[in-house]
Amino acid sequence: MDRVAVAIDQRFDHFLTVPDDPRAELFEAMRYAAIGGGKRLRPLLVMATARLYNVEEKSALNAATAIEALHVYSLIHDDLPCMDDDALRRGKPTTHVAFGEAQAVLAGDALHALAFELLADEKTHHDPFVRAEMVACLAKAAGPSGMAGGQMMDLAAEKQIFDLQTVTRLQQLKTGALIGVCLEIGAILGRVPIEGRTGLRGYAHDLGLAFQIADDILDVEGDEALAGKQLHKDEAAGKQTFLSLMGLDRAKEQAQMLVDQAKSHLNGYGTEADLLRAIAEYVVHRDR
Ligand code: IPE
Ligand code: IPE
Ligand code: MG
Ligand code: MG
Ligand code: MG
Repeated sequence: MDRVAVAIDQRFDHFLTVPDDPRAELFEAMRYAAIGGGKRLRPLLVMATARLYNVEEKSALNAATAIEALHVYSLIHDDLPCMDDDALRRGKPTTHVAFGEAQAVLAGDALHALAFELLADEKTHHDPFVRAEMVACLAKAAGPSGMAGGQMMDLAAEKQIFDLQTVTRLQQLKTGALIGVCLEIGAILGRVPIEGRTGLRGYAHDLGLAFQIADDILDVEGDEALAGKQLHKDEAAGKQTFLSLMGLDRAKEQAQMLVDQAKSHLNGYGTEADLLRAIAEYVVHRDR
């Protein structure tokens, strides 16, 4: 994790050189949000999957940076006053607090664009078919059938009564879709045909849900200093989560059950998938 974090910081530093013109503030805001901090879980998932198929490190790292750029954009916008209105992220003031709201919106927009620019870059993969598939995959996961759709449902969850099935779908879209992309892109880079991705997809599906249940549990019983973000927000906002629907104990059981299930999807792999297995355990035992 530490090695991936350093590599991702270096990539962002490389791609986001601050120009000596009036756009400087935008680049500064992008760098502020993207460099330093964060678990870099999504990049790690890309690297761990790419490793199964001996993908060239540079390709995997560029794709991993793309997904993290998209994730950081989603965090900047999630924290805006019109969304969750949060003042702390990754242990420092949120981008809109540090730079202003308009700048934060633009930094998010620009990181969103950077994600696709990186996936479409020849230096990420020489084969245009591979690049196009990665772009399509991220686009689907970020849009209304993925993250943005999940965020919409999340807003609705403050005002409407959702059943467990609907909350599960909300979580799959809001968080699961982007986690799924990490495995998918690792497989695309590794030239794995669709029919060879079943295990990875099953793993990603269960991991994504476990991850969001863990985030909701952290919101209730986590330590703000460790998490680096304001907690105890979901209940205050009247947000329905797995926790509000099943209670803390059952949510914890459910998260661990999903992790075990995620790992069982990797039974077709040998020790080369141990990193993915370890990530699954980490996701529910994390404190940040
Ligand atoms: C937080 O994601 C937002 C959710 C999708 C729940 P992470 O917990 O991965 O945040 P960072 O990247 O480590 O800051
Ligand atoms: C954010 O979910 C999900 C996305 C950014 C897509 P949350 O609102 O639960 O994330 P935190 O708790 O602020 O990190
Ligand atoms: Mg939110
Ligand atoms: Mg939030
Ligand atoms: Mg949360």
